[in-house]
Amino acid sequence: MPIIDMKQMLQHAHQHGYAVGGFDVVSLDFVEGVVRAAERCQAPIILSLAESHFAHYDFELLMAAVEAAARRTPVPVAIHLDHGESEAMATRAINLGCNGVMVDASKFPLEQNIAHTRAITAMAHGCGVAVEGELGYVPGVEGEDAERHPGEVQYTSVADAKRYVDETGVDCLAVSIGTVHGRMKGAPQLDLKRLGQINQALQLPLVIHGGTGLDEDQYRALIANGVAKINYYTALADAAATAIRATDGSRPGYTALTEGVREAVAAETEKMIRLWGGAGRADELLAHCRPWQPVEHTILYNTANIPEEGVDEMMAEGQRVLSAIPGVRRVFCGQAVQGQAAYRYSWHIQFCHPAVIDSYREHPDHLAFANTLFRPVAADRISIDFNERRST
Ligand code: 13P
Repeated sequence: MPIIDMKQMLQHAHQHGYAVGGFDVVSLDFVEGVVRAAERCQAPIILSLAESHFAHYDFELLMAAVEAAARRTPVPVAIHLDHGESEAMATRAINLGCNGVMVDASKFPLEQNIAHTRAITAMAHGCGVAVEGELGYVPGVEGEDAERHPGEVQYTSVADAKRYVDETGVDCLAVSIGTVHGRMKGAPQLDLKRLGQINQALQLPLVIHGGTGLDEDQYRALIANGVAKINYYTALADAAATAIRATDGSRPGYTALTEGVREAVAAETEKMIRLWGGAGRADELLAHCRPWQPVEHTILYNTANIPEEGVDEMMAEGQRVLSAIPGVRRVFCGQAVQGQAAYRYSWHIQFCHPAVIDSYREHPDHLAFANTLFRPVAADRISIDFNERRST
């Protein structure tokens, strides 16, 4: 089960002078290609899902595949929401299985960016989830020609970065030092002096967006100046499109056209993993980082003073309210199969991380439901939180 804590993953990369790729995936072919590359390199990866791409796939369905791939592979993986627009989206991403979220409030003035990011960080940390903030503005759109989105780069200032990190508590920071999202003509001019100063001042893993299109020396210089995560998408999309165009048309049909996509994505990903220094790091990271393990919050209970239909209504309301609480992956309402069981009913609520035991208990929606609808009719109950037991 090598989904691992993303904060620890990036701290390790930061301390040991390499960067983990945050590879945006847009289909199952991308997921399989990126994981295949990581396995070939024995490297950690971040499987990233960008909100701007949700028009092209169903977030919930792709998340299920991403999580299954992450749990199956032997290399360490984190699952990340890229460029989330709102707290609601960050919560949804966590409840679908992301263990890192990026909230991009960089378009707002500093005060507003700080307030927005601080609120999301408090929520995410209550779920044990790492947060990436962004300060400054990286223009362009992933997968598109940069000339079509000609916004000005707004460079991150050292003083603002220090204040932003102190006041928000983010775990890593995306900085703007000259890169651009998407395809651009020529290599961008990077302000490495500024990056080095930010790194000195923060001592925090830094993130680069717009990873496509730099030369090898530029990548090395970024990493030498504190970059521990590089976001990468356009080159993967172009490699996939090139593989499709290279088919000779002799075999028509979707699967014939797309059969080279997985390997094209894998080859491009592998090149970057090796260049960024992640190859061969899997074992040390697995030894160093906490595994990302859910908790089963289990309540067994009997009811009193409530008719059968009332039990159904109470359960339906609990399903609705509790499943929206940050960090809740699943809410299962049970009824004992055996009529003589000591407890007739159950809740099995899966939390994404042990931190949710506390944040859930105190959450106002949980308290309101428990105090008004559940506890008054279920005085006879036991409640236990379970971790998965691993053989020692
Ligand atoms: P590129 O599309 O330029 O590789 O940038 C990806 C990115 O920054 C995703 O957040």
